[in-house]
Amino acid sequence: MYIKSILFACFLLFLGGNYLTAQEYEYIGAAKCKMCHNKAATGAQYKQWASTKHAKAMESLVGDEKKDPSCLKCHSTAGAVSEDLIATITVKEGVSCESCHGPGSGYKSKSVMQSREKSMAKGLIMPTEAVCLECHNEESPHYKGFNYEEYLEKVTHPIPTEE
Ligand code: HEC
Ligand code: HEC
Ligand code: HEC
Ligand code: HEC
Repeated sequence: MYIKSILFACFLLFLGGNYLTAQEYEYIGAAKCKMCHNKAATGAQYKQWASTKHAKAMESLVGDEKKDPSCLKCHSTAGAVSEDLIATITVKEGVSCESCHGPGSGYKSKSVMQSREKSMAKGLIMPTEAVCLECHNEESPHYKGFNYEEYLEKVTHPIPTEE
C-alpha cells in the first residue's frame, strides 16, 4: 500500500512537471525565426512562408471577423492562444511558424536549435499531416478538401541538402 502511494505521488509529480514545462513556452513570432532562417543557402524558410497564404491569412478576414475567436482560431497563431503565452508574436502575422512548429521561446537559441533532439525537448514540433488537419477540416467555412502531398508542396521549405 505504502509503496503504491509513493509511486502514485511520483506519477502525479511527473504529470505536473510535464504540464508545467508544456505551459512555459511562449510564442515569439516569425520575425525572430527570420533572423536565422532567411538565408538562401539554408533554404530561406521565412521568405517561403511569407509568400504563402498562411502569412496573409488575416487579410482574408474583414471587419469584426479580425477579432472573432471562431475565425482567429485557424487564421492567426497569436489570436488562437491565451494572452499569457504571447511574447513577441503579433496577431496580424496570420498562420505563423509556431502554429506548425510549436512555441519557440524554449528552442530559439542557436546551441539548442543545432540539435533536433534538444530542440524537440524544448518544444519544437516537426509537423506531420495531423498538424495540418487541426485547421484544414470541415469546421472551416471555406473548406476545399485537403490532400497532404499537394498542399505540402505549396508550403514546403526544406533545408537544401548538399550534393
Ligand atoms: C539563433 C538562430 C535561430 C533562431 C532564432 C531559430 N532557429 Fe531554427 N534552426 C537554427 C539552426 C542553426 C538550425 C539547424 C539546422 C541548420 O543547419 O540550418 C535550426 C533548425 C530548425 C528546424 C529544423 C530542425 C531539424 O532537425 O530538422 C526547424 C523546424 C526550425 N529551426 C524552426 C525554427 C522556428 C519555427 C523558429 C522561430 C520560432 C526558429 N527555428 C528560430 C537556428 C535558429
Ligand atoms: C493554424 C491553422 C493552420 C494550420 C496548422 C495549417 N494551415 Fe494551411 N491554411 C490555413 C488557413 C487559415 C489558410 C487560408 C489562408 C487564407 O487564404 O486566408 C490556409 C491555406 C493553406 C494553403 C493554400 C490553399 C489555397 O487555397 O491555395 C495551403 C497549400 C496550406 N494551407 C497547406 C497547409 C499544410 C500542408 C499544412 C500542414 C503542414 C497546413 N496548411 C497547416 C490554416 C492552417
Ligand atoms: C477550422 C479552421 C478554420 C476556421 C474556424 C475558419 N477558417 Fe477560414 N480558412 C481555413 C482554411 C484552412 C482556409 C483555406 C481554404 C482551404 O484550402 O480549405 C480558409 C480560407 C478562408 C477564406 C478564403 C476563402 C477562399 O476561397 O480561399 C476566407 C475569406 C475565410 N477563410 C474566412 C473565415 C472566417 C470569416 C472565419 C470565421 C467565421 C473562418 N474563416 C474560420 C480555416 C478556417
Ligand atoms: C503550415 C505549417 C508550417 C509553417 C507555418 C511553417 N512550417 Fe516549417 N515545416 C513544416 C513542415 C510540414 C516541415 C517538414 C516537412 C517538409 O517540409 O517536407 C517543416 C520543416 C521546416 C524546417 C526543416 C527543413 C528541413 O529540410 O529539415 C525548417 C528549418 C522550418 N520548417 C522552419 C520554419 C520557419 C522559420 C517558419 C516560419 C517562417 C516555418 N517553418 C513555418 C510546416 C510548417
